[in-house]
Amino acid sequence: MAKRVTGVVLRSLALAGVVAVVVAAFAVEAAHDRQRVDEAGVVLVGLTAVAVLAGSYVLWRDGGVRLAVAALDATAPLAAANLAGPPPRPDDAIVVSGLTVRFGTRTAVDALNLRVGRGEIVGLLGPNGAGKTTTVDVCCGLRRPDAGTAYVLGLDARHGGAALRRSIGVVPQESGLYGELTAAEHLRLFAALYSLPDPAARIAEVLALLGLHDRRDGRVATFSGGMKRRLALARALLHDPPVLFLDEPTLGVDVHGRRALWDHVSRLRDEGRSVLLTTNYLEEATALCDRVVIVDAGKVLADERPDALRRGGGMTLVLTVERNAREVADATGGTVADDGTVRVALARHDEAAPAVEAAGLVARVTGIRTEEPSLEEVFLRLTGRGLRE
Ligand SMILES: Nc1ncnc2c1ncn2[C@@H]1O[C@H](COP(=O)(O)OP(=O)(O)OP(=O)(O)O)[C@@H](O)[C@H]1O
Ligand SMILES: [Mg+2]
Repeated sequence: MAKRVTGVVLRSLALAGVVAVVVAAFAVEAAHDRQRVDEAGVVLVGLTAVAVLAGSYVLWRDGGVRLAVAALDATAPLAAANLAGPPPRPDDAIVVSGLTVRFGTRTAVDALNLRVGRGEIVGLLGPNGAGKTTTVDVCCGLRRPDAGTAYVLGLDARHGGAALRRSIGVVPQESGLYGELTAAEHLRLFAALYSLPDPAARIAEVLALLGLHDRRDGRVATFSGGMKRRLALARALLHDPPVLFLDEPTLGVDVHGRRALWDHVSRLRDEGRSVLLTTNYLEEATALCDRVVIVDAGKVLADERPDALRRGGGMTLVLTVERNAREVADATGGTVADDGTVRVALARHDEAAPAVEAAGLVARVTGIRTEEPSLEEVFLRLTGRGLRE
């Protein structure tokens, strides 16, 4: 509250400053005609007072001006240096600028910039504790940032209120489902919370959409992990929101269930919805997302299309050796893969020959090929550690 009051006072002072400049300009003009100076002075002081009062009132309510501020924030060049992705546009679905969240002395989100365009799926990919959920929480209005802003469809997440809640659907990392309730009961509960006009029809629609119609009367405690995540997505879609936050939507779901969920998420984009999806899975980010934002320790390390991320990550030399794979890995700075090959990350093509030569000194090399690096290897190169640590 204190921050908000300070913000309003500062904005009011700024407005008063602008008005003062305008007044000064009028005064100079009036001074050219000395007989009108007194008269003009009285009128202008009155106008200034009215303007400052009106401006303060509007700013206090934070109504239309908030949208203007949002548009300005969205178009202004971003100050923090860690945004490598495209600049934000006024019609973006989600714009996060300089977002900082601290828990005591720990900085969970550190001047983070992020944008999700309309109809775009953006993946927030990072290891445990990278700050993904905290970022989502701020965007959904569940946590106030220590610095920076998050706008969703032009609404400031700090005080978006009911308009923000209507615009977004959320699949939280912890599903928040009640084991004793059935699928249909969950949806009825949330339909009531959203005051949906024709809940029965919409509930039937989302149950069918997520393939849960047959299990509508089953208790959630009896559902598999994949079914629970699908129910959480059905709940998020109930009020037909244009923007979705999916926090680890396939966490704990097997490969088959994950692919089914991917189909549902892809369909969201086809319907023109905008999605911010957090994930630990490289394959998921690659398969689903238009852009992947890699985060670590609350900072953006890269913001690219999946294919561009790979291209920017150099290449991987794959060496097949008869034996001594470990020694070859040590000699080349590579790692031994599950299939026994030695994988060496290279920044440039001309680093391949010296690596092959070094390998030849400790083992007989029977196969040489190069591959584009996986996102995992890109991440390793960017952070010096793997995704799962
Ligand atoms: N309520 C809290 N109180 C204190 N620290 C917190 C709190 N919530 C998160 N953190 C810390 O903030 C950091 C970021 O956590 P966050 O949950 O955002 O990470 P994440 O990227 O979502 O990780 P995961 O992949 O494990 O879900 C972590 O160091 C975490 O311990
Ligand atoms: Mg998380």
